[in-house]
Amino acid sequence: MTTEDNGEKSESKEELFETKHLTSQMRTDWDKKAQDNPRYFICTPHWKSEEEFDESGRETASMILGDLKLGYESRALEIGCGIGRVLKHVAPLFAEVHGIDISEEMIVLGKNRLSDFSNVCLHLGDGATLNPLSSGYFDFVYSVLAFQHMPASVVKNYLRECHRVLKPGGELHFQLTEARALRRFLHSMSKWHFRTALSAFRPLSDNYWKMTGKSPTHKFLTGKSWTKYELKSELTGIGFHDINFKRRVISQRWWERALLGSSSKLRNSLNVSCTKREDRSASTLA
Ligand SMILES: C[S@@+](CC[C@H](N)C(=O)[O-])C[C@H]1O[C@@H](n2cnc3c(N)ncnc32)[C@H](O)[C@@H]1O
Repeated sequence: MTTEDNGEKSESKEELFETKHLTSQMRTDWDKKAQDNPRYFICTPHWKSEEEFDESGRETASMILGDLKLGYESRALEIGCGIGRVLKHVAPLFAEVHGIDISEEMIVLGKNRLSDFSNVCLHLGDGATLNPLSSGYFDFVYSVLAFQHMPASVVKNYLRECHRVLKPGGELHFQLTEARALRRFLHSMSKWHFRTALSAFRPLSDNYWKMTGKSPTHKFLTGKSWTKYELKSELTGIGFHDINFKRRVISQRWWERALLGSSSKLRNSLNVSCTKREDRSASTLA
């Protein structure tokens, strides 16, 4: 084995160790959130009643599906599915719908909530891969309000895994935080906003307590904000093409609400869609 080989090996071992450490933190964190108040931590602006939460899931499903045209016999997968807020509204459109999540608590609640849907299957994942899902199985993979909580190494791993589980020609739609959105927002702030910000940036625990009357037992992990350039080069390198971006208002963060009011329409989120390249060698052989 060459020195280079040794170097590569020890680097990947370190990466593996870091990912394992991160995923165990993420699991503990999301399990606590699921025990404490799942609706609040999944979709903060619409947590108060099941009806409102459900309606928000319907809206998110229509946004993430966009103008996707797939037959009823197709299969879909959601990464970071939570308790099935969105899956519930995607399920009637596909033959099979799968969800995968790092939190066992979320999966248990989700199975209960979606027990009437015979075509839904929820899996407990390891937080960084799509094991145990088979390669080339899905026509459509999506993720919403999940990648924004994950560090870059985990998101990159999931993107590679999405490519693995998609059929050639299959579509991936996902949402995350755009780095520019936060910069644009900070640049657009007036002095008044800065003063309000100083008082609004109290610890999150205060804010949570004010909204729910409960004290939180978890800590927040924040994921990476991405640029379009980074995403494009990552996706192209993996083997996706037809990459499109759309800026959207998806879910107000607590600090946006505190600063700008509940009707603000800050386009804080980037929606990305792309397609797995058709397998050229297979079509040449056919
Ligand atoms: C804000 S919730 C969104 C749930 C769902 N996508 C929705 O929109 O209703 C984020 C979800 O991502 C899951 N999650 C966080 N990190 C994850 C990871 N590394 N792998 C898989 N799921 C993860 C959490 O357990 C949680 O259920």
